[in-house]
Amino acid sequence: MLFPKWTNKVPLVLLASLVVLLCFIVFAFAYWGSPKNYVVGYQPVQPIAFSHKIHAGELGLDCRYCHFNVEKGRHAGVPPTETCLNCHNIVRSGSKTGTAEIKKIHDAHSKGVPIQWVRVHKLADFAYFDHSAHVNKGVSCVECHGRVDQMDEVRAAQPLSMGWCLDCHRNPAPHLRDKKLVTNLAWTPGGDPAELGREFMKKYNVQPRTDCSTCHR
Ligand code: HEC
Ligand code: HEC
Ligand code: HEC
Ligand code: HEC
Ligand code: HEC
Repeated sequence: MLFPKWTNKVPLVLLASLVVLLCFIVFAFAYWGSPKNYVVGYQPVQPIAFSHKIHAGELGLDCRYCHFNVEKGRHAGVPPTETCLNCHNIVRSGSKTGTAEIKKIHDAHSKGVPIQWVRVHKLADFAYFDHSAHVNKGVSCVECHGRVDQMDEVRAAQPLSMGWCLDCHRNPAPHLRDKKLVTNLAWTPGGDPAELGREFMKKYNVQPRTDCSTCHR
């Protein structure tokens, strides 16, 4: 006998290990590779080098000047080309001062096609979200989007996962402020945020729900 008897099982063991390894790889991709885990830091390149740092930061434009629907409905809305032209019909649009980036705005406008901005934040269709429900109860943009006013290109700051939503729905107080301040991303509460937040819980009657049908309807 050239080999001991147990070696007959070697191919079987190898095969079994291979199957387990393959299953693990598939699982690992599905689990760690799924959007909820790589979405933080997601920063797609946009068709025009529009900067929130310039417009919302340095020029101090209010978020609602462009995201006009944020207090009224589910979606914040991205501004139409006309909103940009309110200023860029004049600002840097001349033949000497005009830049390639500003020219893209005029090209889109004259062709009548919307600018193809790339979505940064996107929940799966089975999850329901509403901006107005949050903004009108004193939850600031900064809680969910970070310091957009300091970003040249928007980058996802939070995971937007179910666990993350629920963390705040279970304990909203530290995340609340006067609703007049929701677009002031630099504002800080001075004292204990939870104590101040409890005031606004009463004032705005804040009771976020945690049952499944709140966000899956
Ligand atoms: C002058 C117009 C303008 C102002 C003011 C402005 N934005 Fe925007 N915002 C845009 C445009 C255009 C886009 C799409 C391109 C991009 O993502 O940069 C955008 C995209 C975003 C996105 C990413 C949307 C997505 O695709 O998920 C967030 C978040 C955002 N803005 C938040 C804010 C906040 C917060 C403020 C106020 C501090 C603000 N914006 C002020 C024009 C504006
Ligand atoms: C309220 C006026 C205003 C609005 C509205 C506005 N901008 Fe601007 N934008 C400015 C000013 C002012 C500058 C700064 C110019 C400078 O610093 O030289 C600027 C700068 C820029 C620049 C950089 C200019 C360069 O050198 O290439 C780009 C690109 C730009 N804006 C795109 C947009 C887009 C796209 C929109 C619409 C979503 C928009 N802007 C809306 C006023 C505005
Ligand atoms: C409680 C968290 C939360 C707050 C507060 C919040 N957002 Fe969002 N935002 C989201 C989520 C989640 C999405 C993705 C929504 C989807 O896919 O339906 C989103 C998407 C967006 C988008 C992309 C497209 C759209 O119209 O929905 C913009 C622009 C935006 N937010 C701007 C803002 C601005 C400006 C504010 C503050 C005035 C704000 N958001 C406050 C969570 C928030
Ligand atoms: C930073 C805190 C915070 C985060 C993060 C947050 N929420 Fe909320 N949410 C609230 C508050 C506060 C309310 C208002 C509760 C009320 O009206 O009493 C609310 C209300 C809602 C409502 C309205 C419920 C109704 O009665 O119509 C929905 C839907 C919702 N949230 C979904 C989400 C989803 C989905 C996410 C995650 C993508 C999320 N929220 C993340 C604080 C938060
Ligand atoms: C505050 C909002 C909120 C509530 C309440 C909520 N969910 Fe979710 N749920 C979400 C969000 C946001 C996602 C992720 C969507 C995405 O990946 O874009 C999600 C994802 C899921 C998924 C997909 C798997 C995963 O983890 O991504 C399942 C299943 C699910 N929820 C079931 C439930 C059940 C069951 C309940 C009640 C016990 C519930 N949810 C309550 C917001 C909520």
